[in-house]
Amino acid sequence: MKKVLLLSFFSVTVLFCVVAQVKKPQPKVVVNNAATSIERGKVVYQKECLSCHQADGGGVPHLNPPLYESTDVVGDKKKIISIVLRGMTDRVPIDGEYYSNNMAPHQELSNLQIADVLTFIRASWGNKASAVTPAEVQAVRGVKKK
Ligand code: HEC
Repeated sequence: MKKVLLLSFFSVTVLFCVVAQVKKPQPKVVVNNAATSIERGKVVYQKECLSCHQADGGGVPHLNPPLYESTDVVGDKKKIISIVLRGMTDRVPIDGEYYSNNMAPHQELSNLQIADVLTFIRASWGNKASAVTPAEVQAVRGVKKK
């Protein structure tokens, strides 16, 4: 009987230790990989860009350009960072088409928000281009428009 008691006491102790181990709080890791950036970027897109460029990124013919099948969107990051920061009213053809609406500047968005939203559009609707980082946004923000 003593043996049984001792044994059950022992297993309860072991069990307690195991539970304590499992419950140990994990150190908080700030995840900032492309997947989390895309998730955050989608939220920024829905709030700031969707009204013109539409949920499917298709834009509105002759008004707002589509963000897929666009040379610029998957091209030089500096150019599209600058368009988001400073807006665009150039009336120059985009992939052969003219768009009559104006794109307002979005300087009030943080470097992280702009990096996230551009990472999102560069990875959506068939686009497969690399992520944009907050440092790359800051680099363009720091340069005065000529
Ligand atoms: C008020 C409508 C409007 C909003 C809101 C808007 N855009 Fe635009 N966007 C435009 C228009 C219009 C153009 C083209 C302007 C021109 O042709 O001069 C444009 C151009 C662009 C381009 C260049 C496309 C290309 O192929 O060269 C990008 C990239 C872009 N917008 C991204 C965004 C992002 C990201 C947001 C949200 C942060 C946003 N836009 C919000 C209307 C808008």
